[in-house]
Amino acid sequence: MGSSFQAPKGVNEYVPPRADLFYAIRQAFAEQARLAGYGYLELAVFEDTQLFKRGVGESTDVVSKEMYTFEDRGGRSLTLRPEFTAGVVRSVLEHGLHKGAQPVKIWTTGPAFRAERPQQGRYRQFYQLDLEAIGSEDPQVDAETIAIAWNWYRELGLTQVRLLLNSLGCKECRPAYRARLQEFLRTLDLDEATRARIEINPLRVLDDKRPEVRDQVADAPLMADHLCAACKAHHDRVRELLTDLGIGWEDTPRLVRGLDYYTRTTYEFDHPLLGAQSGIGGGGRYDGLSEDIGGPPLPGIGFGLGLDRTILALEAEGAVFTAPSRCEVFGVPLGETAEREIFTLVAELRRAGIAADMSYGSKKLKGAMKDADRSGAAYALILGERDIAAGAAQVKDLASGDQVAVPLGEIVTMLKERLS
Ligand code: HAM
Repeated sequence: MGSSFQAPKGVNEYVPPRADLFYAIRQAFAEQARLAGYGYLELAVFEDTQLFKRGVGESTDVVSKEMYTFEDRGGRSLTLRPEFTAGVVRSVLEHGLHKGAQPVKIWTTGPAFRAERPQQGRYRQFYQLDLEAIGSEDPQVDAETIAIAWNWYRELGLTQVRLLLNSLGCKECRPAYRARLQEFLRTLDLDEATRARIEINPLRVLDDKRPEVRDQVADAPLMADHLCAACKAHHDRVRELLTDLGIGWEDTPRLVRGLDYYTRTTYEFDHPLLGAQSGIGGGGRYDGLSEDIGGPPLPGIGFGLGLDRTILALEAEGAVFTAPSRCEVFGVPLGETAEREIFTLVAELRRAGIAADMSYGSKKLKGAMKDADRSGAAYALILGERDIAAGAAQVKDLASGDQVAVPLGEIVTMLKERLS
């Protein structure tokens, strides 16, 4: 029986043991970010609503339909972050980090909130790993960030991730392309909502999944064929660098992302086993975002990786990445004196870096051994009155059932050796 309450609809919670995996893959990412020189940022969970309107764009679904916006007691309009990038740039500017070395390399993680229709892989509270490099236009930075995500997927054991790559041009070449695309789209036979979209965000029409729209836009002009010389050189360089790093990609000229700030390099990580919600991560450049929110010109690039979908991908592939054990040794004390002895031994084991736990509540042998089996420990440490008299404890290998008596003073060393 639960309580009278449930978590709100669409809130994706993690409880052990799945939450242990969630935490472990996040830790693995933290290490990848550290190795590439990215510092950790703990970011505001809610922001001034205008930040997202101006940063992410009012024409996007995320801003126009999916934000959790509320008024606080002082009458300010606040919004739970639907993504991190706008907040990260706001924070970098607010704290003057861009006045130091550039690019400013930052990563952060936590929940994000979008009022979407919940289904497998799509939640209202979901979790991202977000990494941003702010202050450089160098294509090497584009390739570096992609490589960080790529290495992480590899480390987790995912083998089927695809990198879908595109360039969305810049403020020099995109307006002309946009106008051309609009001209083309206006000649098509489309429903009213889609016609409206042509005027607001024509690139999104290219991304429409409906077959009747897809067929009609098959011959639409593509950004890739209308890049200015600088954008083309940038895009070619990014692809050369990815080749140097041994990272494969698929050129995806129709890839358009759901957020307005993207320029130049844009990409998605896609997982073929996840059905409709196959985008497990995505990112790109946002060279105009800082100015959009009132800051100085400051180019940037980064990505957001969906932790929820990454876990689903791990499960779908049957990948073997596992969380470190929460319990390697489990103490089974029989009697009051043994309890005190084991309690201290467990503390000693923990100090020695061994995950240890014990049976609480003065249980009998059978109940305490059941706890030991449930704990997932490799060894049980059993201590009875007779063992105390002999100055030893029984170390039982829970997989094989083998048991040996080990002098109390040697237990930590012995278990450390066995578990290494
Ligand atoms: P995004 O594509 O909107 O990009 O989200 C990134 C990832 O978050 C998606 O690929 C997906 O895995 C996950 N995600 C998004 N919405 C949901 C949801 N409702 N439920 C579960 N997972 C979800 C951004 O957010 C950009 N800020 C990424 C970025 C960083 N671009 C540059 N820097």
